[in-house]
Amino acid sequence: MSTQASRLEALMESHRNAEQKTRVVAITSGKGGVGKSTLSANISYVLASRGFKVGLMDADIGLANLDVMFNVRADRNILHVLRGEVGFKEIVVPLEENLYLIPGESGDEILKFSDATIVSRFIDEAQMLESLDFLIIDTGAGIGDTIQMFLRAADEVVVVTVPDPAAITDAYAMVKVVSKIKSDLSMVVNQVRNHKEGLKIFETIKKVAAGNIGGDLNLKMLGSVRSDPQVARSVKQRVLVCKEL
Ligand SMILES: Nc1ncnc2c1ncn2[C@@H]1O[C@H](COP(=O)(O)OP(=O)(O)O)[C@@H](O)[C@H]1O
Ligand SMILES: [Mg+2]
Repeated sequence: MSTQASRLEALMESHRNAEQKTRVVAITSGKGGVGKSTLSANISYVLASRGFKVGLMDADIGLANLDVMFNVRADRNILHVLRGEVGFKEIVVPLEENLYLIPGESGDEILKFSDATIVSRFIDEAQMLESLDFLIIDTGAGIGDTIQMFLRAADEVVVVTVPDPAAITDAYAMVKVVSKIKSDLSMVVNQVRNHKEGLKIFETIKKVAAGNIGGDLNLKMLGSVRSDPQVARSVKQRVLVCKEL
């Protein structure tokens, strides 16, 4: 496992040095259902509409749903690549100009593949990253091994939380784990009443982290997103909220 992690790091390092560098951003959370997929999808869409070439990878193993969010059919996904039925490039779904979805699997068969298989496949197939400006990875929630592998592979990690106490506790646990992997970390507080509420939650987590984790952890607030029924509606209607703006 650690060999694979270092291979992955080496690969990412070579991308860093390459002329055209792909910024790999992992969007993760401690607790599920906090808005990772909604944020990943909308951030990817906005970046692509500003002219960046963006890959959006659905890496919530077993719970993938970005195809549903974008209202596209993805008959084949990462599972079929792992089974050896198709090549990685064949599963990529063009969504908009400059925006490509790498669909994940929502059934539990994918869980049969070991973490190491998933990650090594990711390494072997990552050549396509060369032409992307951004690869946004929508990871699952929690501190499992596979998620940590994806976080390791990322240049930037964004931890999403919502104001409820259970989510905040889990977000802090996630920050603690990620701090062992990355020294730079950003947070988004989703579903807030106002920015002040988001900032307060962030400050609380930052304070606890500074006291308990210490070291050179650089925890930044990326922003907050208001709770808005239009977001929930857009998910149901399968039209991105940013597309409607
Ligand atoms: N800012 C928001 N305002 C209102 N509802 C939201 C917001 N962000 C997410 N949601 C809703 O929360 C639910 C979970 O979001 P999702 O992106 O699927 O979370 P995750 O990927 O973390 O499991 C969705 O039904 C979505 O509509
Ligand atoms: Mg999700």
